[in-house]
Amino acid sequence: MSVNYEEEILKRRNLLKASNWRIEKEGDWWKSHQQKGIPAPPIVKPVPENAMLIDLVQPEELTIKDIPLFDAVSSRKSHRAFTDEKISLEELSFLLWTTQGVHEVDKKKIWTKRVVPSGGARHPFETYLLINRVEGIKEGVYRYHPIENKLILINSQIDQETVKKAWYQDFIGKSAVIFIWTAIPYRTEWRYSLISYKDILIEAGHICQNLYLACEAINAGTCAIAAYEQKVVDSLIQVDGKEELAVYLAPVGKI
Ligand SMILES: Cc1cc2nc3c(=O)[nH]c(=O)nc-3n(C[C@H](O)[C@H](O)[C@H](O)COP(=O)(O)O)c2cc1C
Repeated sequence: MSVNYEEEILKRRNLLKASNWRIEKEGDWWKSHQQKGIPAPPIVKPVPENAMLIDLVQPEELTIKDIPLFDAVSSRKSHRAFTDEKISLEELSFLLWTTQGVHEVDKKKIWTKRVVPSGGARHPFETYLLINRVEGIKEGVYRYHPIENKLILINSQIDQETVKKAWYQDFIGKSAVIFIWTAIPYRTEWRYSLISYKDILIEAGHICQNLYLACEAINAGTCAIAAYEQKVVDSLIQVDGKEELAVYLAPVGKI
């Protein structure tokens, strides 16, 4: 089968276009589930029964040093070398809160307001952590519950051979903790139907930029990662790659 490169490129560029809700489309097949009156999906993945939960430091109790925003923005850059130093639980709590912290939960539990913006306040992401060196936390895969402000243990028996196949760049595995953001596309599709994907990808950028800036306050560094082995990373964090899939990674370590 031959594929026309130019046609394929043009097709894929459609992802970058703004939607035009005013254009009349035939039928109503394109309408979102919200427009069809279907109830909204959960705002956060629930805590599994009997899950092991780890308390994080509450945002109002954080004692991270203040640094001028100007300095954080000026010195932000990608780091690909980290020391062996551990990250403290308080520092990890700070990084999680600055990336996905929740300000407000809708009374009807349809939306949340968070530290980052999200089209229609849909917030389609979950945050997983592959922890290597965090004080007081065993190595393993965890998920952040942003409303409870807790970590949920997903797997403490990580197969290091699988981890090695997850990405192409060795420095990622040498970090103290790897942030892995998944998208649950339906959270956005429920409201925005076919035009959800542009929003989802833009929003991932907002989250990662906050991580870069927050790292500046704790003498740590990070590097945005879009190049990874999709199936391996999805299996590492135990998501199906369909209803939920990894979209962006960021290793964090002391510098
Ligand atoms: C969407 C995105 C994907 C990226 N993917 C990778 C990656 O897979 N591996 C990597 O080493 N750096 C990656 N980077 C980091 C860029 O290479 C880096 O931002 C760029 O070289 C500019 O350097 P700076 O961040 O220090 O300004 C990515 C950055 C972005 C925004």
